[in-house]
Amino acid sequence: MGSGRVGASIAFLCVSNALDDVLLVNRNKNKAIGEALDIANAIPENSKFSIHGTDDYSQISGSDIVVITASVGVYMKDRTENIVLQVKMIKEIAQKIKQYCPSTIVLIVSNPLDVLTYFFQKESDLPRFKVIGIASSLDTSRFRYLISETLSVPQSSIYNALVLGEHGDSMVPVFSGVTVGGNPLFSMIDSRDSITEGVRSYWKKLRSFKSRSQFGIAKNTFDVIDSILHKKEITIPASVVLEGEYGENDVAMGVPVKIDQNGICEIQNVKLDDTESSFLKKSSEKIRNYIKSIHT
Ligand code: LAC
Repeated sequence: MGSGRVGASIAFLCVSNALDDVLLVNRNKNKAIGEALDIANAIPENSKFSIHGTDDYSQISGSDIVVITASVGVYMKDRTENIVLQVKMIKEIAQKIKQYCPSTIVLIVSNPLDVLTYFFQKESDLPRFKVIGIASSLDTSRFRYLISETLSVPQSSIYNALVLGEHGDSMVPVFSGVTVGGNPLFSMIDSRDSITEGVRSYWKKLRSFKSRSQFGIAKNTFDVIDSILHKKEITIPASVVLEGEYGENDVAMGVPVKIDQNGICEIQNVKLDDTESSFLKKSSEKIRNYIKSIHT
């Protein structure tokens, strides 16, 4: 749902890898049809799947997975700029999904990610483990990339990179568990500050070179779709409504989750040092305050 740069990039990966049939749904029907006609030319010749575009929500009936990338407009300085309209939009989409495919698994990509994951789950009444916010895995890939660039090491030598919490300025890179070539990351850097700032502001730096991100988030979303459809378990950080995990209730934020063909099958605990625990608490509070700011 949403066939802008991100939605179209996700659709392209799904179609060109012959994952399944894809339906692009967009308020602007021509946009959905246009992207579908273009991506259709990436269907492998041995694929039994196809892609179509529509503005008719009822055509989502029977979908195994619904990916929501829709947005009311472009945010410039902060992912929460359009929070009121985005929450209104996500509630409308939640009602459509409740009506047309209530047993689907929903991947939320739209921002502000954690707030929308929360309100979608509450509005749709889907089980919380069927509503997965995709963003912390993107933040984690940025964390890994920045470690690789800072230390001039291949990403393949970096283990346990992880970012939790808000997909926003309070996100929490977890340094304490990271090893590089088998050695603790902390033995190679003097401070976590510059990499932390680099991860948190990555999207702004990227936007100083191109209008907005698309490929990183698309690949991270594709990986989840692939694992669900091919019944392959993956463990990534993702946003989910919490009911006591990490000491948090009534909030959605990025935590380590195991995903299988039915959605999230486990929320995993991870060891945090005092700084990381304190940052995570601040992050959940920030998300909770945004949630409270929306007068339902
Ligand atoms: C970003 C968007 C996906 O971080 O929130 O690039």
